[in-house]
Amino acid sequence: MVAEPGFRRDPIGYVERAARAREAPFRLPGGALCVADPGSAVMVLRDNGRRYEEVTEFLRPRGGRLAEPATQVAVGRAARRVLRDRLTGDGDMFASGVAGLGDDAVWPHAGRVLVHQALADVLLHPESSPGVRRLMARCVRRHDVLIRSPHPLARPPQHLLRAKLHRAVAEEVRVRRRAGRGPGGGAGPADLLDAVRTATPADTDPLEIAGAYVQLFRTSVAPVAHVVAWALLLADRAGVDLGAVRPDRAVREALRLWPVAWLFTRTVRLPHEVGGAAVTPGETVAVCVYLLHRDEDVWPEASRFRPDRWAHETPRGAYLPFGAGPRACTGASVALDVATALLTALCRGARLDVHGGDARPRVQGIITPPDFRLHRRATTASSAQAVVSSDDRR
Ligand code: HEM
Repeated sequence: MVAEPGFRRDPIGYVERAARAREAPFRLPGGALCVADPGSAVMVLRDNGRRYEEVTEFLRPRGGRLAEPATQVAVGRAARRVLRDRLTGDGDMFASGVAGLGDDAVWPHAGRVLVHQALADVLLHPESSPGVRRLMARCVRRHDVLIRSPHPLARPPQHLLRAKLHRAVAEEVRVRRRAGRGPGGGAGPADLLDAVRTATPADTDPLEIAGAYVQLFRTSVAPVAHVVAWALLLADRAGVDLGAVRPDRAVREALRLWPVAWLFTRTVRLPHEVGGAAVTPGETVAVCVYLLHRDEDVWPEASRFRPDRWAHETPRGAYLPFGAGPRACTGASVALDVATALLTALCRGARLDVHGGDARPRVQGIITPPDFRLHRRATTASSAQAVVSSDDRR
């Protein structure tokens, strides 16, 4: 397979050109078969025929106790419960953060800080080591350790800080084990760390727990903030008044146009056909959610930001920002609700103006929106919108 430098430089542009030029599915540089139609996407991700290797990458275990898919699922569910409790415990978890935002903030960084502030106590309980809590805040504020820097020189300090965080979290796990209990004194886990700790076998290496925890910490903050950043940016570009649309629809629409996780891969276990192409064991099949979400045959005016389209039924398998099947995102509904709560708080009683944001999004595994400034000015008339629970949505 000929390596095409265009893919490295601009993966999104590459798949768009490839989809236009060739009959789908097409091959990516490196040989992976790329599919982007609802039927193939759902078939690959649901994998009813068990034709693909079981994926256990999300929590990044290298062997060890967390490599068990059942343990990963248990960890994901426990994490979701803790985040959900935070959301239902405080109907307006972003009010104070948004009030302190100032009228000019740089996004998406500001969004990551806001999400972290709102979740801080549930990510790591206030009774935990103050040093670890400070380290987590530093990861979000100072070095943006949550996402990989595009600047090679910025990466070594990021790595160092992340390694320090892993060690500190592992020590906190040991402290809790010695104490024989987690913080809070309640019946269930009081924070994300105890959610991970109690969902894993008792003899799991503390560093392994720390690895899964840091991954969930990053996932709970960065992608959620990025979805809101996209909603702000896209609404501004499309001239959509976010105060006049349901925030949950704006969030869904932002995730349609810019799915944070845009390309999922699976390794073939049994020979079969996908979208008319034969694949053999060891090959990679990539599901391109970015292309799937912009398919004109499925989505009228696919490249337009139109939150109102979510008032109607969407075709099955055409919207997969959280994957599908056994390894679909455990945190999907809570992630949508946290993003909706943040967007609601930002729009309430304020006029929003976006400046900049013209650069290309950064694609390094996940898609990160370009930097822009958000000017937020208070208005007299409140455009408050109630946070719509995920149960009210399709
Ligand atoms: C907007 C925010 C989020 C997006 C776009 C997102 C997206 C995804 C996607 C696409 C996958 C599946 C990857 C694949 O099939 O290869 C995934 C898996 C996962 N996500 Fe999320 N996620 C988000 C937030 C969260 C949150 C807040 C949590 C916390 C509970 C979470 C927990 C998980 C877990 C545990 C898995 C692995 C599931 C498994 O393999 O069993 N995610 N996520």
